[in-house]
Amino acid sequence: MNKQEAQQRVDELRMLLDKANKAYYQDAQPFISDKEFDEYLAELNKLEQKFDLSDPTSPTQRVGGEPSSDFDTVEHPIPLLSLDNTYNEEELNDFDRRVHDLLEHDDFTYLVELKFDGAAIRLRYENGTLALGATRGDGERGDDITRNIKTIKDIPLQLEDDYPDIVEVRGEAYMEREAFVRMNEHREQQGLNAFANPRNSTAGSLKMQDPREVARRPIRFFSFDLLSEGTDTNITQYQKMEWLEKFGLPVCEHYKLCSDIQQVHKQIEEWKDLRHDLPYETDGVVIKVNEEKYRETLGTTSKAPRWAIAYKFEAEQATTVLQDITLQVGRLGKITPVAELKAVELAGTTVKRASLHNEDEIHRKDIRIGDRVVVEKAGEIIPQIVTVVNPNRNDRGSRFEMPERCPACNQELVKLGEDVDWRCINPECPPQIRQRIEHFASRDAMDIDGMGEAVVDQLVTESLISNYADLYELKKEQLLPLERMAEKSAQNLIDAIEGSKDQPLDRVIYAMGIRFVGKTVARDLAHGFKTMDALMEADQEDIENIESIGPKIAQSVVEFFSQDHNRDIVANLRNHGLTLQMEEEQQASQKLKDKKFVLTGSLPSLTRKEATELIQKHGGSTTSSVSGNTDYLLVGDSPGSKYDKAQELNIPIIDQAAFLELIDEEI
Ligand code: IVH
Repeated sequence: MNKQEAQQRVDELRMLLDKANKAYYQDAQPFISDKEFDEYLAELNKLEQKFDLSDPTSPTQRVGGEPSSDFDTVEHPIPLLSLDNTYNEEELNDFDRRVHDLLEHDDFTYLVELKFDGAAIRLRYENGTLALGATRGDGERGDDITRNIKTIKDIPLQLEDDYPDIVEVRGEAYMEREAFVRMNEHREQQGLNAFANPRNSTAGSLKMQDPREVARRPIRFFSFDLLSEGTDTNITQYQKMEWLEKFGLPVCEHYKLCSDIQQVHKQIEEWKDLRHDLPYETDGVVIKVNEEKYRETLGTTSKAPRWAIAYKFEAEQATTVLQDITLQVGRLGKITPVAELKAVELAGTTVKRASLHNEDEIHRKDIRIGDRVVVEKAGEIIPQIVTVVNPNRNDRGSRFEMPERCPACNQELVKLGEDVDWRCINPECPPQIRQRIEHFASRDAMDIDGMGEAVVDQLVTESLISNYADLYELKKEQLLPLERMAEKSAQNLIDAIEGSKDQPLDRVIYAMGIRFVGKTVARDLAHGFKTMDALMEADQEDIENIESIGPKIAQSVVEFFSQDHNRDIVANLRNHGLTLQMEEEQQASQKLKDKKFVLTGSLPSLTRKEATELIQKHGGSTTSSVSGNTDYLLVGDSPGSKYDKAQELNIPIIDQAAFLELIDEEI
């Protein structure tokens, strides 16, 4: 390779890595695996050095990710560094040798910890109270996401025991595998895109604008570093873990003191098996020089400390044959290509299918039917195809062509706006009809007991119904001939359908299956518009006026009601006697009727405005100062003098949790 060719490759790699960085950090939608990323970065590093092509803006020079502009930016007085990675024993021994050489003695130990696969965060406690939570950002500056951090239940708002005035904590936010899968299922039910893996989902969740939504995400936290002023320089990493625990911060139970690198290797072997039994993802272990005092001598490079290294587990991979690519039609018409694989064992399960995400992904990896492919189950729960084994073979099949028509109904497929997905927009498309009706009848929607997949399937196949409003025309006699349907079950089903007519407006809105309208949005729309008619007539601006609703949702609602067949279905629902408006008592509960509240301090996840709205919604009111007429003082962190006054007057003092219990709301 000459210098010119090297320059060309360097440019190519920088562009790819910048894109990958943005996709990972800002969009939480990575398109290459961590290992691929590390390999490209290593290749770039090598070329830059060999051909003297370094550049201050190269991805090799930074930790990754720009702070997002939506939150305030905070400087990290001590940068949040990255870690160098190793993938084999040799490289780990090299690290050990370097540490010995730099320290010029053997008088140190290692602490080995699991490497959690989530998002790094920094916490700052002032006088024991959580004062700041921030993302890593580019390592020097991150986003102030305190309000979101406060919703994470693992993170104490107040430290315990004997803590120093200022405590800086570093750790990893993550999601447990099972909670992640459940959340994704729920998202798909609501017509939202599923997250690729727990890590992206965590990173994305932490940067959401609405802390109430963050509170619903199953985010967990492990702390792994403590930096506080005036700490004894003789402290060890092991002691830090004990301190963190003592302060009430969550620390993962798996950390081990090792006297030398041989012990470290043994520990790694042990944990390679352990990781499958853990409820969360780990992508390796972190090896740290245990004694703090040597960290200074060892120092850091611009990106990573020289006193620590990550040993990454190989992602579990297997090769198999891609037998076919099939297309799945979602409830909202999204067409997802699915890899049909020759069955193969991977990380303890038999894999037969893998998601191919979309057409672009298939072309980028040039995946063709008949190829031998590498399947990986790394952070991903759903197996992914990493690469084609022998792409230069000359007897390959032809390039994948996305069909122009829907595999189920033959309607021409379309791409909407900047969407990467193809969609079938035929309202009569059978799998979509079936899924829409199933969604309509589901427990969180109209809750029609007995109207499961098998029944819906038969009703649609037998042309007894073609949309969810048709459910209300069904007669018992029509149900009786269906498989496994007896007199009693048919009657129960008819009764359940009839009973669903009383479901409140928010459930009806949710049940209609409008894209991006989940349960919470449906509730906000119902409260905002009070009647289906008002919602149907609302324009984009009216809808955006509702606090929690942004342009994407508003546009989707307007678009839904602009279609005649949807308006016809609403008319049918009305003719069948559904309540398409809020009942008086739904509009405002009277749980806090005539109760006067005073607010003080900052609540863990409600803003003052939100708390006030909740109080009003339930028939209460707020005043600014405590008096004999006050019924409740609602307190958050750092309450002011109102707290003392309320105590003096014997006025009930409640926190956010007690308040929510009082009004029977969850956030
Ligand atoms: S120590 C400067 N310990 O890995 C020391 N990091 O690739 C770096 N991580 O940004 C942090 N588990 O988010 C450390 N037990 C652990 C970790 C860990 C996960 C993450 C952390 C860091 C990234 C570096």
